[in-house]
This record gives sequence, structure tokens and C-alpha cells, in this order.
Amino acid sequence: LGMSALVAIISYLIGSVSFAVIISRTFEKEDIRNFGSGNAGMTNILRNYGKKLAVLTAVGDFGKALVAVALGRLLYQMAGITQSDGGYIAGLCVILGHLYPVFFKFKGGKGVLTSLGVILILNPWVFLMLVVLLLPFVLIVKIVSLTVLIGYILFPIFTYFVSRAQGAPVVSNVIFALMISAMGAYAHRENIQRLRNGTEYRFGEKK
Ligand code: G3P
Repeated sequence: LGMSALVAIISYLIGSVSFAVIISRTFEKEDIRNFGSGNAGMTNILRNYGKKLAVLTAVGDFGKALVAVALGRLLYQMAGITQSDGGYIAGLCVILGHLYPVFFKFKGGKGVLTSLGVILILNPWVFLMLVVLLLPFVLIVKIVSLTVLIGYILFPIFTYFVSRAQGAPVVSNVIFALMISAMGAYAHRENIQRLRNGTEYRFGEKK
């Protein structure tokens, strides 16, 4: 239990490093949360500051998930506990940190890239399926949030089939996926409202 708490706290702290906030403050001398959708994420950085800073944000928010999950697994391994459990806890907590960063008054991003990082390291096949399907989709519809919400629906479904095919623990993997999707959908509640009202931002448009 001590090790689980340690992994949870470390991952939460890693997740709390909000690259969108840090990058906007560093390069634009502003806080991205005062602009556009107010979200501390790649999409809003792209909307306000362009591609370069968006890529930088993406790399950071994606990368921190890889670091947290790898570390979680390593610590569990060193403690002689099931490695994959360390990955699960680290995965959930790094996303939680991104959503509610302790370093930035608990107002962070929506966890899309951080979740993708977690998914890549925990199940590269599911990651690949999601990216191959959703990347062309987002380029066509030009609405990131809609694409992401479809991703949250597909993620547990893909996890089910891939886990079955791999002989991996289906129930725990699917529950884990459902938890990530639930957190993600909740984080996108304002976007869901805007989508329903037909007022959601498309990229290419400013604001
Ligand atoms: O990454 C979050 C994205 O799905 C939506 O972001 O800024 O349009 O609310 P935003």
C-alpha cells in the first residue's frame, strides 16, 4: 500500500506539470488559461499561439505520461509487486494531475495527450488503432473535442477486443479504459455543451 501511495503521488505531481501553462508563460508572457477556451492544452495553444508551441505542448504533456507510467512500473517491479498495477495507478494519477494541477491552482487541461501517452505505453495496439482512425477524422471535421469524445467511446471497445486477442486480463483493462474515458468525457463537459449548441470551435478559426 505504501508503494501504491508513493506511485500515486509521484504520478500526480508529474501530471501537474502543465506544459501549456509553462509554455505560454515562458514564450508569450501570458497564461493560456486566460485565452480562447481557457483550457491548458495543445488545442488552445494551437488556437492562440500557433503550431510550434502546440507541438512543444503536445510533446510535454504526452511525454510526462510515458515518464510517469514507466516510473510506476519500475517502482512496483523493484518492490516485487505486479508491474502492471503500478502502470494503472500511475496512468490514472498522471491524468488526474494534468486535469487538476497542484502547481497551477488546480486548473489544468483535459488530459487528451496525457491519456494518449498512457495508452501508448500500456497498449500500443490500442493506441495505434485510435490514432489511425482519429487522425484523418480530425483533419476532416476540424473539431478536436468531437474527435476526442469519439475516441473515448472507442477506447474501451478497442481495449476489450485487443485484450481478448492478446489473452490479457480483459476485465481490469476495460475497467481501466472506462475510468480514463469517464474522466475525459467529464473534462470535456463544456465542449459537449458547445457541440450541442453548434458553437464549438473548429481549428483554422481564431478565438
Ligand atoms: O485537448 C482538449 C480538446 O479536446 C478541446 O480543447 O481548448 O477546444 O476546449 P478546447
